[in-house]
Amino acid sequence: MEWILLLIILSFLLRPKDRGKPYNQYFSLLNQQLQKKAGGQPSQLVDLDTVDSNLESVQQRLNGKTKLRLVVKSIPCLSLINYLMERTGSRRLMVFHRPFLSFLHRYYHDVDFLLGKPLPIAAIMKFWHTCDDDQKHRLHQIQWLIDSPERLRQYLRFARQQNIKLNINVEVDIGLHRGGVSSAAELSVLLGLIADHPRYLNFSGLMGYEAHIAKLPSLPWRKQQQLLRARDEVAKRFTQLVSFIQQQFPNLWHDQLTLNGAGSQTYMLYQNISLFNDISVGSALLMPKDFERPWLRGHQAAYFIATPVLKKLNQFELPFLEKLSKTIGWWNPNWRQALFIYGGFWKAIPEAPGGLSLNRLYGRSSNQEILTSSSRTALTMDDFVFFRPQQSEAVMLEFEDLLIVRRGQIVEKWPVLSRSISEVNHG
Ligand SMILES: Cc1ncc(COP(=O)(O)O)c(C=O)c1O
Repeated sequence: MEWILLLIILSFLLRPKDRGKPYNQYFSLLNQQLQKKAGGQPSQLVDLDTVDSNLESVQQRLNGKTKLRLVVKSIPCLSLINYLMERTGSRRLMVFHRPFLSFLHRYYHDVDFLLGKPLPIAAIMKFWHTCDDDQKHRLHQIQWLIDSPERLRQYLRFARQQNIKLNINVEVDIGLHRGGVSSAAELSVLLGLIADHPRYLNFSGLMGYEAHIAKLPSLPWRKQQQLLRARDEVAKRFTQLVSFIQQQFPNLWHDQLTLNGAGSQTYMLYQNISLFNDISVGSALLMPKDFERPWLRGHQAAYFIATPVLKKLNQFELPFLEKLSKTIGWWNPNWRQALFIYGGFWKAIPEAPGGLSLNRLYGRSSNQEILTSSSRTALTMDDFVFFRPQQSEAVMLEFEDLLIVRRGQIVEKWPVLSRSISEVNHG
């Protein structure tokens, strides 16, 4: 008897708080516009004012000598890339997907491309065989990333067959352990091959990505110190490789080499040290959810998915467990209603209005996903719910375009790059 009483008291005490809230003014205004402009289907939005302010944070924290390189996979929309290049003056892109490279290299005549991952030789062949004559004369604008002697030999063989010269940027492992060269001995093999074949290969620099720094587990009050310590370790490894080149391969060394590193979560760590002369940033401009870090607090979310509510049920019911669902709904005010939305199962978290949650008990769906909510969200059929994508790179490509927001108004629609862009005529 006593324990039943205890259970009742406990369940009252542990009852979740009602997190439901109607839209704030920003999302309320967007909801009204989407009802007219989204054609009743899922859409994605980018707020350019927030992008501008994120960009300012990046520019302020880049050391004056370091060049910004935009990461295409995280902002895969030509108009957005154009916009960011115009605002920053950057003519440097990092690409990861052969069709994007083919398309962008044909489109931009004055941009330096650095591959962000080593591409299989078959992709290089495909690239070369789909180049037009103009592109073939601009091969010097691409830096191919090489991680191993075996791959370099494949590239060399191809360059020899085609009688072309390839820029080689060497991927170095400075702690991430995602492959690449980690010792002077390994680097020496690659540089030796390059130095022996100046007709076909040109050494263009090093690329050392170090995203592991941002994931370092540590106590919150020691985070800053640990970050700097990890950064110093990265810097030590990178500098050792640089010194090795300067001493052992002086003919390959010059100050125009691309020494690339960092990314959205670490770019600010190099403000006061001169290590990389070329820093890549993409995601931090849109700030998807997974990029939230205490030291990126100046960056705001600029990218959302919005989708209409198809059905609003005033009660959440699990098939076969209808009675239990009622009790759960009574106990947890955030599970009182069920909303079925158009689409779903994106890599994204409900953002607005407040108090919406994905429901793994019911199951996920890409067609009509369920969201449970409190009745205080005040949503009705045809209202839009907003999600915050966890990343931009894969999510953005699931849609055809971006709705562009300025001062709270949807002002334009920009097409997103298609995964097979080089095979289709884009705009
Ligand atoms: C080699 C390399 N550089 C930089 C980045 C940073 O991209 P972002 O700024 O979008 O995180 C990545 C991301 O995967 C990467 O692989």
